[in-house]
Amino acid sequence: MKPAFLERALSRAEKLTSEQLRSILGEVVSTNDMLEAALQSMFDGIVVCNLRHEPVFANKSAERILRMAPGYGANPLWIYLPDEELKDFFYKTLTAEETILGKEFALQGSGGTKIIAISLTALLGEDGISGTIVHIEDITDKRKKETQLRRAESLAALTTLAAGIAHEINNPLGSISIRIQLLEKMVRAQSSESPGMIKHLGVVKEEIERLKQIVVDFLFAVRPMDIQLLHDDPGIAVEEVVELIQPEAERKGIHLKSRTCKDVPRILMDKRHLKQALLNLMQNAMAAMPEGGTLRISTEYIQDEIRIAISDTGTGIPEELLTKIFEPYFTTKKNGTGLGLTITFKIIKEHSGDISLESKEGKGSTFTIHLPVPQKEKKALPQWQDSATLAGSQAEE
Ligand SMILES: Nc1ncnc2c1ncn2[C@@H]1O[C@H](COP(=O)(O)OP(=O)(O)OP(=O)(O)O)[C@@H](O)[C@H]1O
Ligand SMILES: [Mg+2]
Repeated sequence: MKPAFLERALSRAEKLTSEQLRSILGEVVSTNDMLEAALQSMFDGIVVCNLRHEPVFANKSAERILRMAPGYGANPLWIYLPDEELKDFFYKTLTAEETILGKEFALQGSGGTKIIAISLTALLGEDGISGTIVHIEDITDKRKKETQLRRAESLAALTTLAAGIAHEINNPLGSISIRIQLLEKMVRAQSSESPGMIKHLGVVKEEIERLKQIVVDFLFAVRPMDIQLLHDDPGIAVEEVVELIQPEAERKGIHLKSRTCKDVPRILMDKRHLKQALLNLMQNAMAAMPEGGTLRISTEYIQDEIRIAISDTGTGIPEELLTKIFEPYFTTKKNGTGLGLTITFKIIKEHSGDISLESKEGKGSTFTIHLPVPQKEKKALPQWQDSATLAGSQAEE
């Protein structure tokens, strides 16, 4: 629809002075510029085609998403598109003058696969249909989020079910365990005590303990955590865990090198759980160095976050396993539960943090915990300092 002032001006155009015409033209140009700027600023792609299907307008997003060849205009839209599937789609739908709503395409590009949704509607002018409007939406992130949400939902349903079963298993396990202890007592009390029987009972007891541990670990991994976030010093949590593993590291011929940057700001943390997460990572690192090696722990304050990096010079993780190791029950160890990293990840997520990982087979791995620093704790200019509280551990040169 034309603006009212333009309607009025047109109806008495022959009576207008050149001054008035110039001013009206100026108005039209500025409205046009504003509309063009609005279309160009849109995140979605817009292409307007005339009745011959030639693109008379395309905004920057459309050019980018469809990878339109420059200098378009004189030929139908599909001529300017490099993607064969899109060419075919536009040829068929534009010539058939179809209305399309959100037809999805997966386009391969240098940055990976992009999922786009294309809609085609008739461009309605005052004298009827004067072309087609093509609307292109990049729905890659939307789809990704939907998939993640679906996955999280099915995982949540599954874990609730599994937690229920684990809980139910716990009760009979408890009573079996008591009965076995009673049986053992009875066997020992008998005058003809059989060593074979005691041995078998011992094995049964051990297996029951193992089952109980699996149930306890599982419930810990899936249940909502009782996390209590308090303002605390993450550097101290790191130091305490390093101190804790020091004797084991020494026994295994592993050099511990810990570095903490000075004036680490306090963060919102649950010390007990954070220490558990750190311990899990350090134990994995030590397990990856059966022949000894170096375990480095650095605590940095960088880019508004605390980064705690735990680096080993161990076996490293094969690339194909990198996405698997955080999954519950994934383990390559004979006696591993495969819940260590699952629990660690959960604890860090409860701190609104993240874990990143770099690993090279045969060279070692670095797990980095990222923890956000609350606004009011932010400080400037951190400096390095070697941990002083570590008895026997080597400070990094
Ligand atoms: N630093 C590391 N170097 C090499 N492999 C690692 C490292 N950390 C984890 N992994 C791999 O990831 C797997 C899963 O680790 P996770 O801590 O979840 O379970 P686990 O250590 O096997 O068992 P648990 O923690 O119960 O003892 C390990 O079995 C191992 O294969
Ligand atoms: Mg582990």
